[in-house]
Amino acid sequence: MSTPATTTPSHVTGAERSAHLERAIEASPGAFRALTGDRPTGPLHVGHLFGTLANRVRLQNLGVEVLVLIADYQTITDRDAPGSLRADVLGQVADYLAVGIDPERSTMFAHSQVEALNQLLLPFLSLVSVAELSRNPTVKDEFATSGASSMRALMFTYPVHQAADILFCHANVVPVGKDQLPHLELTRTIARRFNDRYSPEGSYFCEPDALLSAAPLLLGVDGTKMSKSRGNAIPLCATEDDTARLIRGAKTDPERRITYEPDRRPEVANLVLLAALCTGEDPVTVAEQVGDGGAGGLKRLVTDALNERLRPIRLARAELVKDQRYLGEVLSAGTDRAREIAERTLDEVRRLMHNVY
Ligand code: TRP
Repeated sequence: MSTPATTTPSHVTGAERSAHLERAIEASPGAFRALTGDRPTGPLHVGHLFGTLANRVRLQNLGVEVLVLIADYQTITDRDAPGSLRADVLGQVADYLAVGIDPERSTMFAHSQVEALNQLLLPFLSLVSVAELSRNPTVKDEFATSGASSMRALMFTYPVHQAADILFCHANVVPVGKDQLPHLELTRTIARRFNDRYSPEGSYFCEPDALLSAAPLLLGVDGTKMSKSRGNAIPLCATEDDTARLIRGAKTDPERRITYEPDRRPEVANLVLLAALCTGEDPVTVAEQVGDGGAGGLKRLVTDALNERLRPIRLARAELVKDQRYLGEVLSAGTDRAREIAERTLDEVRRLMHNVY
């Protein structure tokens, strides 16, 4: 793998960095390897589609090598039983395939299956301090939301494991949402410290860049951030009737005329945005189309737009889940490829650390 065509200046902000990176990717997609992932905690929803899945497909189609990781070990940071893990993992593969992630070009795998990736956690733990891990705001938030009385050691250290997820394959671009930026920063620190300590002649690991998706944060039907755990999401695989029901129950406001004013009318603006993302129109135009149609008119329009946009994905997914064997095969082909990469990296890491006897 060659190094990225440009280095982003460090003084620029997240959004500027991403815009700069976008241009570099378009100029030479072959110089980039993207890795990103999701926790298998249930069916993926429209927030995922517009926030990250569409972006992955776009990168893949541009010619970037894309690896998509199913973070099954991250689900046990606050869970006590396997639950429906197996079905959730295979369902996630079906979601990926249905939205257009192509197993011929992209690699899908679960990190629990890639032994050499997991082994990188040990040396990486020696490169960070307890104090640094204690400061991670995303972990603090997750702990607060979990409602648990004490934090598991895995929740405390998973950002280090996430660095292994990224560095094992020398990914140089990581498409993620803002909440993942602290983990990315830690990954960069680990890469830098590893290089200083074990590879002073020349950097072994590159410091990957986050690629923030341009899609704005979508709210769920209750007006808070759309997420599986809040139960306010519209799953990609929901039926048309379920979608209609979910949208009918969405929070709006009493003003009759529909406008697009995200600050003053966040719930209405979110529905307008959802329709706009589905149809590819401008949100202001969508709002004008509904005009005096009120919340009822808006909801009918959003439901139709969503069902229209999701129809091909749902049809593809329904076919895919009928063939569980095929889903397993996609995953095991991805695992083989990830293992090959991880083993090569672990061999080199051992050599650099003088762990060869
Ligand atoms: N922590 C991510 C999430 O909760 C999932 C994830 C695991 C991930 N490993 C990753 C994301 C590596 C990007 C890169 O959504």
